[in-house]
Amino acid sequence: MILVTGGAGFIGSNFVLDWLGAGLEPVLNLDKLTYAGNLENLQSLKGNENHTFVRGDIGDVELVSALLLKNKIRAVVNFAAESHVDRSIRGPGDFIQTNVMGTFNLLECCRKYWETLSPKSKEDFRFLHVSTDEVFGSLGRAEPAFTEVHRYEPNSPYSASKAASDHLVRAWLHTYGLPVLTTNCSNNYGPYHFPEKLIPLVIHNALKGKPLPIYGDGQQIRDWLYVSDHCAAIRRVLDRGQIGETYNIGGCNEKANLEVVDTICNLLDAHKPKAGGKSYKEQITFVTDRPGHDRRYAMDASKIERELGWRPTETFESGMAKTVQWYLNNTQWTENVASGAYLEWVEQQYVGNA
Ligand code: NAD
Ligand code: DAU
Repeated sequence: MILVTGGAGFIGSNFVLDWLGAGLEPVLNLDKLTYAGNLENLQSLKGNENHTFVRGDIGDVELVSALLLKNKIRAVVNFAAESHVDRSIRGPGDFIQTNVMGTFNLLECCRKYWETLSPKSKEDFRFLHVSTDEVFGSLGRAEPAFTEVHRYEPNSPYSASKAASDHLVRAWLHTYGLPVLTTNCSNNYGPYHFPEKLIPLVIHNALKGKPLPIYGDGQQIRDWLYVSDHCAAIRRVLDRGQIGETYNIGGCNEKANLEVVDTICNLLDAHKPKAGGKSYKEQITFVTDRPGHDRRYAMDASKIERELGWRPTETFESGMAKTVQWYLNNTQWTENVASGAYLEWVEQQYVGNA
């Protein structure tokens, strides 16, 4: 059995669905169910005996230790995190607690468990830490993409907390020999993406006739990867990655935010035209920029392609078409997610702007 943490969130739930869909080992899914965790994402697994859900915190020593031992866990995939940059600016405390202290606790519990295993099980055990390209900081327009050896230069409380967790993972390998792997991935998009993040927020607001908020000049660049490609990369690293190595994962899809929003509007104009024939682009509104907003991220994913044979299967065009269609087909999912707590967030974040 593998332990997936944060498996009710956006990428975690996609990973669990893909993993079980591929007929791999049973999954123990540990998730605290913060505002970002949603069991509705896993509804199709109801009654599936290969999926066990436990509501709990990766920072809970007793719980994590007991789960590892009782279920003879073979590998841990750590998705659990506070993940939204804007929330980290408004309130960094939870980010330090979960991303730093939580990862520390998970590592310690795994180390103690791993030390009790037989030589064979010890050899087979893996701890895969899911991290982000944001730890490398911001690139200038003409600079080459981040490689695995790029200096860590995090600029937000979120990226600093993820950088800290990456360093802890590295230290648990070098000091204790824990068999760890780290992946650093670019911006994901696809089904079950919480509508506080750019792509689902814009789709949701567009359909509601609300402003589409663009921070600053909208020329910040992100490298977009369809979520199932990320899940496939993690499976590949878990299966074939070299212990102690880090792997960059990216989509080779660098796009300015305004271009991303234009793409969404074009797709919605085609598939859900507004009455009166106007374009959704008319809802675009420029709002106050994010403090410390990183200008550009770009991933050099040649190492994982060269060494492990992974490359993305979706283009930006095919991935975006699937994504917009998914949101059009699953409006109830977004409605359910956009509850009272979500509305409070939107009120705080976009007050006076949107
Ligand atoms: P998300 O916010 O959608 O989901 C996070 C999940 O973790 C939620 O289900 C939440 O309930 C759970 N969680 C939070 N604190 C917890 C705790 N203390 N104990 C147990 N569970 C807890 O995040 P996501 O976008 O799915 O990101 C998953 C991971 O991938 C994160 O580590 C993030 O840093 C990393 N990542 C995300 C992206 C992206 O574009 N979204 C890109 C690269 C890396
Ligand atoms: O790069 C990987 C990271 O991608 C992950 O580590 C994070 O967990 C994930 O949230 C994501 O971070 P970003 O800050 O890049 O994603 P977000 O969707 O919040 O913003 C994408 C870009 O769009 C960014 O430049 C900010 C901008 N933006 C965002 C929102 C929410 C807007 O212009 N308007 C908005 O309303």
